[in-house]
Amino acid sequence: MMKSIIVNAYGGPEVLKLKNIEKPTPKTNEVLVKIKATAVTRASVMMRTGTPYFGRVFTGISKPKIKTPGTDLAGIVDAVGKEAKKFKVGDKVMAATDLKCGAYAEYICLSEDDMILHQPENVSAEEATGIIDGGSTALAFLTDQVNIHKGSKVLINGASGSIGTAAIQLAKTAGANVTALCSGKNAELVKGLGADHVLDYTKDELARCDTQFDVIFDTVGKLSYRKTKNKLSTQGVFLTPVLALSALFHMLFVNPFSKKKLKFAATGLRKQEQRMRDFEKIKNLIATNKLKTVIDKVYALDQIQEAHKYVDTGHKRGNVIVKIA
Ligand SMILES: NC(=O)c1ccc[n+]([C@@H]2O[C@H](COP(=O)([O-])OP(=O)(O)OC[C@H]3O[C@@H](n4cnc5c(N)ncnc54)[C@H](OP(=O)(O)O)[C@@H]3O)[C@@H](O)[C@H]2O)c1
Repeated sequence: MMKSIIVNAYGGPEVLKLKNIEKPTPKTNEVLVKIKATAVTRASVMMRTGTPYFGRVFTGISKPKIKTPGTDLAGIVDAVGKEAKKFKVGDKVMAATDLKCGAYAEYICLSEDDMILHQPENVSAEEATGIIDGGSTALAFLTDQVNIHKGSKVLINGASGSIGTAAIQLAKTAGANVTALCSGKNAELVKGLGADHVLDYTKDELARCDTQFDVIFDTVGKLSYRKTKNKLSTQGVFLTPVLALSALFHMLFVNPFSKKKLKFAATGLRKQEQRMRDFEKIKNLIATNKLKTVIDKVYALDQIQEAHKYVDTGHKRGNVIVKIA
């Protein structure tokens, strides 16, 4: 038997129940991973609430199809199927399960063809799992959607969040001049990650800033494109990972006629080969200390409701981790 979080309905943190269930057994091409840490991401909150509603096409219309939530994990290979070749018992691994979920548990079986990689030795399980969501999302936006180079002027809003803290570091690695937009209490954090300039959103400092940005990455979907487009350079791009109807309208009817563009992508729905490519890059960046995981709070598995309540506030700094083993 093993401990696992089980959900039977969409709703608030109270739908997350700790249960004892059957421990899985790996099939021939699978590995059994003893999970050491998982992350409470904004995606796991969306899957818990079943919002936005169109997401239920993937997660289940009236109730969650998958009973054990959690999309990111790091752990140790505990057993391998007969035909599994890439991993052996005792290997440290990190994995993204995406819509298959299952990471809020003591054990999970993963196919060797799933998004699973060896975990670099220089990071902890908490750091490895914490970087997966924000790191991969930031990387996808900053490489697939825009062309950042030395001297590019990049504004990152929500700079203290999971995507934001990774985006600052990735944009700096690409040679950009980075302005971080966050609240005053997070100014030191974002400076420490490499931001060249910091603006306080609670004091409306962006309005008084006269920089023309090549890229505005609104990682938390809180800026209005209409109100900020005058801060974009002639061919500037506004990136958002949060889909709003206004953004959809803009992409369909305004982008074709405008040099300035607004771009949205659902990075988790891309082909596995693209996601794997980014996952490998993120692994290499953490292995070489070019990308650091910002960890806010660490909870135990039986505190999962508390962890979700905290993430629900929308004010976590970097990443929230659940330590399991
Ligand atoms: N499209 C995709 O592929 C994709 C993938 C992953 C995630 N997402 C979405 O991306 C969004 C961001 O995810 P995340 O995990 O990075 O978020 P997060 O970590 O929860 O963001 C929290 C941070 O946002 C800051 N913040 C809150 N209100 C703000 C405001 N008005 N202006 C500026 N900063 C503000 C908070 O700082 P303060 O406490 O100082 O306010 C906090 O540090 C979520 O909506 C998530 O669902 C999309």
